[in-house]
Amino acid sequence: MTDATPLSFYEEVGGHETFVRLVDAFYRGVAEDDVLRAMYPEEDFGPARQRLTLFLEQYWGGPGTYSQERGHPRLRMRHAAFHVNPDARDRWLAHMRVAVDELQLPPLQEATLWDYLQRAAFAMVNTFEPTGIGPAAHGRATTSLPLTAPPPTDPGSSH
Ligand code: HEM
Repeated sequence: MTDATPLSFYEEVGGHETFVRLVDAFYRGVAEDDVLRAMYPEEDFGPARQRLTLFLEQYWGGPGTYSQERGHPRLRMRHAAFHVNPDARDRWLAHMRVAVDELQLPPLQEATLWDYLQRAAFAMVNTFEPTGIGPAAHGRATTSLPLTAPPPTDPGSSH
């Protein structure tokens, strides 16, 4: 007898244990990253790790616990509060790359996962402003391109 139900990608790559390994490895990198580390509101990465794990599991056909706990993902909206510029994206992806490599998946599954993570990370970028540490760099306002929001109104200017 054969079971005709196709395996989900979640099951194919090894289920819960695989996603836990992925996200744990990813956050080990984030913890060492000055720019990303500063963006995480909580002292320890436990809750953030849990949210990312549950989201990825749900996305790939595993349990729907993420939405039961958090509602609709609306990931771009949830990231609006964070300064996700190309530098942050590239750092995020660099830590994910290390984490994906650690899984040692078969090439097709690895490519599927990596392709998704890259596209998702590019879609999450919400500013081209440099990382906001210290005073604004000279020329910043004129060289940046507001993509998702209009530039802030100058409180000193008339309409
Ligand atoms: C591109 C660079 C990215 C940066 C800098 C970034 C940063 C962050 C930060 C600071 C948080 C808040 C931590 C928390 O409370 O959970 C967060 C949450 C989260 N991120 Fe990202 N993220 C990025 C890309 C992504 C991508 C590509 C995904 C999905 C594939 C993702 C999925 C999530 C999820 C699921 C949460 C928790 C949302 C919630 O339920 O509140 N992030 N991210």
